[in-house]
Amino acid sequence: MPCCLVFFLPFFLISYLMPAHETSHKSILLKHPSGAEAEVRLFGATVTSWKVDNTERLFVSKDAILDGSKAIRGGIPVVFPIFGTDEKIKLPQHGFARNSDWEYVGLLTDNDEVSVRFSLKDNQLKQSQRSAWPHSFRLNYTVALTEKTLRTTLVVKNEDEDTFEFKTLLHTYFQISDISKVAVSGLSNLTYIDKVQNAAKVVEENQKVTIAGEVDRVYANVPEEVTIEEDGQAKYRIVKTGMKDTVVWNPWIDKAKGMGDFGDEEYHNMVCVEVGSVADWVKLGGGQTWTGGQVITAL
Ligand code: BG6
Repeated sequence: MPCCLVFFLPFFLISYLMPAHETSHKSILLKHPSGAEAEVRLFGATVTSWKVDNTERLFVSKDAILDGSKAIRGGIPVVFPIFGTDEKIKLPQHGFARNSDWEYVGLLTDNDEVSVRFSLKDNQLKQSQRSAWPHSFRLNYTVALTEKTLRTTLVVKNEDEDTFEFKTLLHTYFQISDISKVAVSGLSNLTYIDKVQNAAKVVEENQKVTIAGEVDRVYANVPEEVTIEEDGQAKYRIVKTGMKDTVVWNPWIDKAKGMGDFGDEEYHNMVCVEVGSVADWVKLGGGQTWTGGQVITAL
């Protein structure tokens, strides 16, 4: 568009035409020419919406806290540098990345993809967080849209001279209509850590994983592709790169009631299928970078 034309357009129209723009509530809205859209909050670089064919694909709780005082219950929070809690590293559950204000680096367009990038560096953290994980690092996080796909890619750069260790996970909450009709394929014959059975190691014997109670499992060394189906129809394909593991989580009735930022009945409408490297620590040498991510396709 010629710059003189941009000059005469009202602000709302410029925003509408731009592939990515900042909103009044500290988020970036991405628009793909096909009509697909995504929204990413600067808080946690959390993707809080992904729409394909005018239908929301991510679950965000109606009770999610969006004022920056707590990680957002839904969308895609970024877990880093710990998964769960850790005796030696005194950080809150799932680390600081999902609770920090990230910097918006800018828009990138490449072929058919519209993408935005965010970054988080150690000097943006609170002093207590830097002391708990005293390393110099930079995270770059890219969120990219095509007509039917959402790509989220995390790059970790070790800016220290010494090696550090981390765990990371893209904690994706998928929107579904009825958990009793959901099946996840691509996990059969894998060993998982069952967090609802005292971390027992179990081999997945089912061809498709269905959910009829609280599920909190870390499947280790998962092949690149996992599919979520509902009512016999494939709904989402998740292809991961650089990440080794996949967590499947649904809190079910009692846990749902115990969470202040999650509706009592919402467990029917979500399933978390989370790609990550969490079963073992990732070791990253000084000056080195590590890349991991996922491409989710709405089928
Ligand atoms: C999952 C964990 O990744 O996240 C669960 O495996 C945890 O154990 C869940 O309960 C939600 O965590 P949080 O901190 O967002 O309530």
